[in-house]
Amino acid sequence: MDDRHIPVLHSTALDVLHPEKGESVLDVTLGLGGHASAFLKAVGDGGHLYALDADERNLIDAKKVLGEAANISLFHTNFGQLDSLDIPKVDIVFADLGLSSPHIDEGDRGFTFREDAPLDMRFDRSSGISASDFLATASEDDIAYVLRQYGEVKQSRKMAVDITNTKPKTTHDLKQSVERVCGFRAKSVLPQVFQAIRIVVNDEIAALKHLLDVGPLLLKEGGRMGVISYHSLEDRPVKQMFKTLTTPEKDDLTGAISKEAPYELVTKKPIRPSEEEISNNPRARSALFRVIRRVSKP
Ligand SMILES: C[S@@+](CC[C@H](N)C(=O)[O-])C[C@H]1O[C@@H](n2cnc3c(N)ncnc32)[C@H](O)[C@@H]1O
Repeated sequence: MDDRHIPVLHSTALDVLHPEKGESVLDVTLGLGGHASAFLKAVGDGGHLYALDADERNLIDAKKVLGEAANISLFHTNFGQLDSLDIPKVDIVFADLGLSSPHIDEGDRGFTFREDAPLDMRFDRSSGISASDFLATASEDDIAYVLRQYGEVKQSRKMAVDITNTKPKTTHDLKQSVERVCGFRAKSVLPQVFQAIRIVVNDEIAALKHLLDVGPLLLKEGGRMGVISYHSLEDRPVKQMFKTLTTPEKDDLTGAISKEAPYELVTKKPIRPSEEEISNNPRARSALFRVIRRVSKP
C-alpha cells in the first residue's frame, strides 16, 4: 500500500460491499489504490478491477501498488464521462469522493492555503482551466455565486470584489484576499473559499450527478454501489438519488405499490467512521458512506 493516503472506512467498505471471488469492481476514484487493491485481492484472479482517476499522477502511483495483470483495466478520465467508457456491467461500483492526501500534502497542486503555490486546483491538469485562470476571467457575480453556493461564504460579494480587483495567481494571493476581507475570521473562512473554488474548477457537482445517473445502471442484478462523501454538497445528491432509486412506485388512487423499486438501501443511515479511525486519520472525520443494491435484473 502507498502510505501517503490512508483509505477512509477501508474495512467497512469491504464488509458492506462484500466483494466475492470472481466478481468485478469499478472504482471511479482510484486515488493511490488503497481501496482498489483490497477489492482486487478479494475478487482474486477470476475477478476484474476497472478503475479510473482524473489525476494522472495518482493513476501512475496506483499502478505501482496494483501491479500489472490481465484482470486490471485503468483509465485516465473523469467519472463525469463514465458513460463514454466501454465498461461491462459490474458487481460493485465504488466512489470515494474528493481529494487524496497527496493533493494536500504535495502543496504544488494549489489545493491548500498552507503552502504557497500556483493556484491550480485541477485534478486533471491536462484539461480545463486552473483556478487562477477561472478567477481572472469570471465575472464578479459568478465568483460571488460560487463562493456562496459551494462554500456558504457569508461575505461572498465583498470577497468577489477583492478577487476581481486583485486576480490572485497563487494560493497565498487568494489567502491574502480572504484575510483582507475577513480579518481575524479568515482562518475559519479559508477552507470554505478553497473548497468552493475547487468544486467549480473541477465541475464536481455535475460530475457527481452524472456518476449517480450512470453508476447504478452499470450494476448487475445483486450488484452494490457505495459512495463515500465528505460534505453536504456531495452527500445531498447521493442521498436523494439513492432514495429515488429505492422508492417503489405507488398507485395515485389506492396508494398500493404499482412497481417495486429496482434497488434497495443497504445503509438505512450513512455509515460514519469510528472515533478510533478519526483519531488515527483526521481526514476521515466528515466521511459519510451510503450503499444501495440492485435487486432486479437490468
Ligand atoms: C479520496 S481520493 C480516493 C482515494 C482512494 N480510495 C484510495 O484508497 O487511495 C479521491 C480520488 O478521486 C479522484 N477524483 C476526484 N474527482 C474525480 C472525478 N470527477 N473523476 C475521476 N477522479 C476523480 C481524485 O483525483 C483522487 O485521486
